[in-house]
Amino acid sequence: MIIKPKGCHDIYGIEGKKWQYVNKVIDSLMEKYNYEFIRTPIFESSEVFHRGMGNTTDVVTKETYDFTDRGDRKMTLRPEGTAGIVRSYIENKMYGNMPNPVKLYYNGTMYRYERPQSGRDRELTQFGIELLGSDDPYSDSEVISVAVNLYKMLGLREIKVKINSLGDNESRNNYREALKDYFRPYLSELCPDCKERFEKNPLRILDCKVDKDNEILKNAPITLDYLNEESKERFDKVREYLEALEVDYEIDPKLVRGLDYYNHTVFEIEAHVEGFGSNNVLGAGGRYNGLVELLGGPSTPGVGFACGIGRLIMALDLENIKLPIKEDIEVFVMYVSDTEKNYAATLVQSLRMSGFRVETEYTGRSLKAQFKQADRLGAKYLIILNDEDLRRNELKIKNNKTKEEVTIGLDYLLYYLDEVLLEDEIEYKEEEYMERCTCGDECNCTEEKHCGCMGEHNCNCGEHCECTHEDNCGCLDGCDCDDDCCCGHNEHECHCGEDCKCHHEGE
Ligand code: HAM
Repeated sequence: MIIKPKGCHDIYGIEGKKWQYVNKVIDSLMEKYNYEFIRTPIFESSEVFHRGMGNTTDVVTKETYDFTDRGDRKMTLRPEGTAGIVRSYIENKMYGNMPNPVKLYYNGTMYRYERPQSGRDRELTQFGIELLGSDDPYSDSEVISVAVNLYKMLGLREIKVKINSLGDNESRNNYREALKDYFRPYLSELCPDCKERFEKNPLRILDCKVDKDNEILKNAPITLDYLNEESKERFDKVREYLEALEVDYEIDPKLVRGLDYYNHTVFEIEAHVEGFGSNNVLGAGGRYNGLVELLGGPSTPGVGFACGIGRLIMALDLENIKLPIKEDIEVFVMYVSDTEKNYAATLVQSLRMSGFRVETEYTGRSLKAQFKQADRLGAKYLIILNDEDLRRNELKIKNNKTKEEVTIGLDYLLYYLDEVLLEDEIEYKEEEYMERCTCGDECNCTEEKHCGCMGEHNCNCGEHCECTHEDNCGCLDGCDCDDDCCCGHNEHECHCGEDCKCHHEGE
């Protein structure tokens, strides 16, 4: 049996549906933020990544898939999106052809020859954004908030945003010297790679995977102590805008990131849900003001992030988030005779083109076996064709849940399906609300399921809540007092302290 390469995955079935759902949320989020989709080649000249990401980084020295093509050109499978996007920005002169700043997003596979483990793959998928042409600290903060909002939209709660600043070139150089002074006496205690890093790029010692638990690294100087005034002010602005954007964050003075192109803001968003393991960085990024120049373009500031889709799905699973994935098909068309089959072919096509999710029979099963197949596929409605009905321009349609069957005129079919499926859709959404609130806002409710509480946080749906908790729910529903209560709170917990006219028990 031929098997897939190590560190790669086949994504299909329910997993495939989750990926598709996440991609849909990404596309809709990007539309709102006005980022344009970009697709760059999966392989590029090695120079793009080797120069762009830095020749001393672990990714470039140990993890790139490099090969020589049949024309003797040195090529590399992309290990990340940023350097390729910047190459494209320069090659296509986007700085002159597109409105500034240029805001791009991508979603595709990347390749890193890493030691495969949970959350660490050789073929990984990243969604990322790059904002090129603005040095305003607001763009750093907004980029961070895009990532946070994606996670929130999907319902993730257990995340932590960590930020730091590496400062401008002057600050980075001062920091680099401070690191050299600090590490010099300890050189013999560091791994062979770190000795080399000491000469070429001492910052890279800080993200060494071998020495990561070494006390020497833990006590190393921090970037913030070496920021010049301008960089400090810039970082303060980033923090101010993060607060305006309501992003909770903490400063991690040890955060330096493993790629060379960063300066000023760097950040990582971690999953803090039990069971995730050590590869818990869901997404990460930062500012890279020198990269466009480094790859041969005009001096252009840039900032962006990328998030691993595999790790994101893992976090959704570990937080038990049920995505609104519709697996059931809407209509199953059944037939037996050849004339019925001909009619079925036309009907199935026209229903699909009208927007319905339709299945039919492909393998010549008996009618009884077709009923079973329809059940397996979770069909909501069954259209049972028979020659006699068709001669009268009619067909039978059965609700597969209630088993109620009606005979309707062919001309009426589309209206009928529209109506019954809309009713089902409303019912489905109500059930969804009951199961779990995924709005991602801060909810004090600690019940995991069947709460449906859309209470004190910002979800305004306020509908369909049947929460019966006794305290601290903040739920605004289920109160019979309606208009009588000036505060709008319900019977079980009114803390408003105002003159409340509501006379329910316990108030
Ligand atoms: P990165 O930190 O190398 O940054 O990767 C970003 C994200 O990709 C990680 O946080 C993680 O979720 C995911 N990831 C990375 N390596 C693996 C792996 N081996 N297996 C599974 N997931 C992985 C970048 O790639 C930068 N280009 C981000 C950026 C964009 N900075 C500015 N713009």
